[in-house]
Amino acid sequence: MAAGAVGLILLIFLSESLSLPVGRQEESVCGYQSCHATKPGMLNVHLVPHTHDDVGWLKTVDQYFYGDRNDIQHAGVQYILDSVVDQLLKNPDRRFIYVETAFFYRWWSQQSSSMQETVKQLVNEGRLEFVNGGWCMSDEATTHYSAVIDQMTMGLRFLNETFGPCGRPRVAWHIDPFGHAREHASMFAQMGYDGFFFGRVDYQDRRQRMLAKEQELLWRASDSLAPPLADLFTGILPNGYNPPDGFCWDQSCDDPPIRDDPKLEDYNVEDVVERFLNIANSQALVYKTDHIIMTMGSDFQYENANLWYKNLDKLIHYVNARQSNGSRVNLLYSTPSCYLQELHRANLSWVLKTDDFFPYADDAHDFWTGYFSSRPALKRYERLSNSNLQTCNQLEVLGGPASRRGHFGKGDSRTLKSAMAVAQHHDAVSGTEKQHVANDYARRLANGWQHCQVLVSNSLAVLSGSTAERVYCNDLNISVCSLTESSKKFSINVFNPLARPITWPVRLPVNGTAYVVSDAQGKTVDCEVVPVSQATRNVRRSRGFAVNELLFQVQAPPLGFSTYFVSLLQDGSPPVFKWYRGPKSIWNKYLQVTFDPDTGLLSGLANLETKQNIRLAQNFYWYNASDGNNTASNQPSGAYIFRPNSSTPFVISKTVKTTSVMQEVRQWFAPWVSQVVRLHADSRVLELEWTVGPIPIDDDLGKEVITRLDTDIKSSGIFYTDSNGREVLQRKKDFRPTWHLRQSEPIAGNYYPINSRAFIKDDEDQLTVVTDRSQGGGSIQNGSLEIMLHRRLLYDDVRGVAEPLNETSHIFPDGLVVRGRLLISLDRPATAADTHRPVAQGMVLQPLLTFTEGDLHPNTRLEFSGLQAALPPAVHLLTLSQWDEQLVLLRLEHQFQSWESKVNSQPVTINLQKLFSTLEVLGVSELNLSANQWKDEMTRFDWTPQTGEKPLKKKLEDASPWEVTLTPMEIRTFLLRVDLR
Ligand SMILES: *[C@@H]1O[C@H](CO)[C@@H](O)[C@H](O)[C@H]1NC(C)=O
Ligand SMILES: *[C@@H]1O[C@H](CO)[C@@H](O)[C@H](O)[C@H]1NC(C)=O
Ligand SMILES: *[C@@H]1O[C@H](CO)[C@@H](O)[C@H](O)[C@H]1NC(C)=O
Ligand SMILES: [Zn+2]
Repeated sequence: MAAGAVGLILLIFLSESLSLPVGRQEESVCGYQSCHATKPGMLNVHLVPHTHDDVGWLKTVDQYFYGDRNDIQHAGVQYILDSVVDQLLKNPDRRFIYVETAFFYRWWSQQSSSMQETVKQLVNEGRLEFVNGGWCMSDEATTHYSAVIDQMTMGLRFLNETFGPCGRPRVAWHIDPFGHAREHASMFAQMGYDGFFFGRVDYQDRRQRMLAKEQELLWRASDSLAPPLADLFTGILPNGYNPPDGFCWDQSCDDPPIRDDPKLEDYNVEDVVERFLNIANSQALVYKTDHIIMTMGSDFQYENANLWYKNLDKLIHYVNARQSNGSRVNLLYSTPSCYLQELHRANLSWVLKTDDFFPYADDAHDFWTGYFSSRPALKRYERLSNSNLQTCNQLEVLGGPASRRGHFGKGDSRTLKSAMAVAQHHDAVSGTEKQHVANDYARRLANGWQHCQVLVSNSLAVLSGSTAERVYCNDLNISVCSLTESSKKFSINVFNPLARPITWPVRLPVNGTAYVVSDAQGKTVDCEVVPVSQATRNVRRSRGFAVNELLFQVQAPPLGFSTYFVSLLQDGSPPVFKWYRGPKSIWNKYLQVTFDPDTGLLSGLANLETKQNIRLAQNFYWYNASDGNNTASNQPSGAYIFRPNSSTPFVISKTVKTTSVMQEVRQWFAPWVSQVVRLHADSRVLELEWTVGPIPIDDDLGKEVITRLDTDIKSSGIFYTDSNGREVLQRKKDFRPTWHLRQSEPIAGNYYPINSRAFIKDDEDQLTVVTDRSQGGGSIQNGSLEIMLHRRLLYDDVRGVAEPLNETSHIFPDGLVVRGRLLISLDRPATAADTHRPVAQGMVLQPLLTFTEGDLHPNTRLEFSGLQAALPPAVHLLTLSQWDEQLVLLRLEHQFQSWESKVNSQPVTINLQKLFSTLEVLGVSELNLSANQWKDEMTRFDWTPQTGEKPLKKKLEDASPWEVTLTPMEIRTFLLRVDLR
């Protein structure tokens, strides 16, 4: 198509999408315009009626919605929304905010159209306001940015499509998450929020901020995006998210109601007013302006909203009545955005923060650093589900409508999208829910994946031209796949969701001893057969019986697939392996790994290209979890809290039995701990595959198992961790960048979330570890890096979940066994990111293998790429997802920080029309990060940091609407109108 014609279509598309913003015509007065007037010169108290509705915790998300299982916890979200709407209608002054779209969406879809009209009216008048508005309130320590952006997009899209601009939240609201990630603040800024409020902050940090009146601040959440792109005004709420003491009027509370009939004996108005004025005046002492906020609500409150509102109406009336006697306190129904607007009007400058709010402690021995690793199997399953979802989304676009309704029936991505969105909740992937709720999250993900499998099969049928049945082997990590175990001849389709070509090691359970493997061109591929290890037999139990594993490397093109063929040469006769015992070293082209001949443990790592060589010792240890019977404090270790009994962990074994086969060393530490040390051909990373469990508890000791890497790198008490999988932050032992720390837990107080990578370095060497899920970790000694892998605990840690973290299942009644991988690289600090950025993306988005028994039809297309060419190494294809019948959501991300790489930390330009091989891009418009506002309509409040600087609002102009330039760490979000070429 000629360029001119394309331009024309582009214009039409743009004007269509921009011309009819809903709500504009009807001049609604929602948002900042609908705020109640405040009184200058008085202390204005913003009363914010709210409920905190966990998307699963002690009960499942469905149980919470319906109010089922009230024997576990009295909570029913449907009644809350019924009751609140009813009460809002009784008095136009009343306000309410709602947060969790997963619940609101369910409720809304059950309402009559007249009720829906009523609610729209409340929203249009700002009486019911959405804040945050994602599908859930995501956890910040254990989530990956890709899944967080998706869940926010899903919730905010529903709000926009249902309510138009009045449904767009102005404020981010994370009142419960247990510590706050800088990347979350960066994402919220890019989603267009004007401000952010939360409730939990370290107790020492809070104390100092109260003294300095710095509970409200400006968070500069990126070191790469030009201010104010990632600047976010941030407020710490005065009382967590609870009402002030004595003022809880929910049916779940016991505080006295306002008894205002003077004729009756219990008249208490003067008492209530006095108590309230005292609290308001002392709260005002620790905030900067003459506005303060009070959160009037808590967990699952407002089920009988009349109780709250009736008393709040009276409180406002009686406190304000004092103004005629000279009181200078003014109460009003308000919302976080109305409060924020007043802070903005105050036109002050705010202290600037550039680090994050981890770890979070609420007392000297109460560090919430255990949940960084709690439920490691769920954490991995969630991460893998994200990979599957992205693949499913991509194939839905590439396969066209036939992917949703095709040869294999009806498939959809929606089920997995919402299961993933629910799983981001701060009691889901965080691991802080009850066991039956964790099972429910996993069940939802599994169900979502089944829906996606139909879609993927349909799409691959379109793209390959073959309707042969495809088999999914989801348990390859434990060598279970009945097709490959029994088949004499099969093919594998390898779909690669990354926008660059990959090489991937495949490992298939088989019973034969010799196979021939060939690629799409018919070329033979090197392969090996090795016996299934004892550790793998132990972990798979009775789920598979293959005796061997077939290993080979596959390659797949960007955003596309390749096909491999496997046929059995020889059955039965026992395999002949070259076995070694206690090898001194293994190596490939890039790396050499050495072992201590006496102990069998790792002892060194060399990068053969750069001639770097470090000492690298590795072992497994366990901390004895505190049982709470302790003089300093009776806090036990639990699902949330990490509290080891001693700072010295027990070593699991000082020597290991090793066997090796090819470039792979199997280490046996204990019946419940083993590891495989692998070097794949042509790989720049060393793989450590760990298997831990069932953790023994017959000694009645809770155990927290770590892997520890000890090197001679001079790391000076500093290590680095990523924030939600994106930017990297520096961590220093026993130190916090913005306040003076009194360290009271030498291990737990030095743990940080690791979402995808951590590293230590000195001038010469950088050792980077890429993880396959979120985990907690620390650098307790110089040159050392430890990562917590698995926890099994015997006591509840008294934060509400009321269960010890002691995971079992029907296959593992003796305790869960967990397996995972760490990928380790040794590089020069200046070039390390060039290795670990792509390695980490490859860990997050893994190729999807599908298997077909027997021969393929000769007309089958064996190779396909959805891209015209691979994207440059700096650019990641973050989202490719069907938006509606005609539109496709695309996110392109620059995946390097500005300081990370000479080569890759440069602006990159991508031509959208030259992106796809099978899709013609006819129109494009750009959105904010959460895709609920057009980019050119985005306006945010300006805030001034105390450094005084006024950020420049310089925008790098694109050369044309098609040629978009990405600067370091930038994510750009587009809706594309596409047609199949
Ligand atoms: C593979 O071999 C094992 C051990 O002999 C056996 O138990 C299993 O049934 C075999 N699998 C198949 C599919 O034949
Ligand atoms: C710790 O103390 C509590 C209460 O004093 C007791 O119930 C519990 O059994 C004790 N735990 C251990 C491991 O001694
Ligand atoms: C918001 O929703 C309206 C429909 O209510 C739609 O027309 C508009 O395109 C949506 N805006 C964005 C940015 O998606
Ligand atoms: Zn919560």
